[in-house]
Amino acid sequence: MSEHDSTPGTQRPYTHRIRSFVVRGGKITPSQQRALNELLPKYQLTSDVPFDAKRVFGNHNPVWLDIGFGNGESLVHAALNDPDVNLVGIEVHPPGVGHLLLEMEKHGLENIRLYQEDAVDVLENAFADDSLDAVHIYFPDPWHKKRHHKRRLIRPDFVALVEKKIRHGGRLHLATDWLPYAEAMHEVMQQFPAFRNQAVAAGEPPLSSARPPWRPVTKFERRGQKLGHKSHDLIYTLRKL
Ligand SMILES: C[S@@+](CC[C@H](N)C(=O)[O-])C[C@H]1O[C@@H](n2cnc3c(N)ncnc32)[C@H](O)[C@@H]1O
Repeated sequence: MSEHDSTPGTQRPYTHRIRSFVVRGGKITPSQQRALNELLPKYQLTSDVPFDAKRVFGNHNPVWLDIGFGNGESLVHAALNDPDVNLVGIEVHPPGVGHLLLEMEKHGLENIRLYQEDAVDVLENAFADDSLDAVHIYFPDPWHKKRHHKRRLIRPDFVALVEKKIRHGGRLHLATDWLPYAEAMHEVMQQFPAFRNQAVAAGEPPLSSARPPWRPVTKFERRGQKLGHKSHDLIYTLRKL
């Protein structure tokens, strides 16, 4: 049963779920609004329809999912540099979605699709198990205060969901510039031994992976760098039995 189930008397288990985001009003520019009006219908996917890569993209290329894509810089970077990859993004913040659509238009990118919904709903309802080649979660909201840690995206129940959706040999790539969150991510990931930390596999400390070429430095990250924040990449390969 999904949370959309409206059968009278049935339980709605996720109605009161703690969300990892607050949809901020945020200023939306007229061009972003135009993009949302005119371009979103062409590129938007919705979680009530099972995701079928062949139908959506017309090919069998690998599928990379970017969760909480912000302004979409990492998706655009990947679409330009890896044209043989199918890119799917999830973001709830309307100006960010508008920004991505404008960049897609500017660069003529046809290998990106997006969901404007909670990533938990999308993963639960749209993606089949073993359907994703990579999941990227860059700079998820750190929710600094202890009483807000329950809102963090990288928690065991969420990782268990992501693990089901990534195929054997696929990748999970996390990045954050908040060291306590990086450490918490590492702790959570240790509960999932099928995810092999690439740094550890190379005999290095768990938080020591270098930024790989498929992850660009985003506006958000640059802002942190100006405050002296160091970024941490945690890159895992999934081995399923
Ligand atoms: C700090 S920003 C990082 C943006 C981008 N990944 C980057 O590196 O620049 C985190 C983003 O995740 C989005 N987000 C948080 N939880 C989400 C969820 N459950 N589903 C979809 N988007 C989410 C927020 O709206 C926000 O834009």
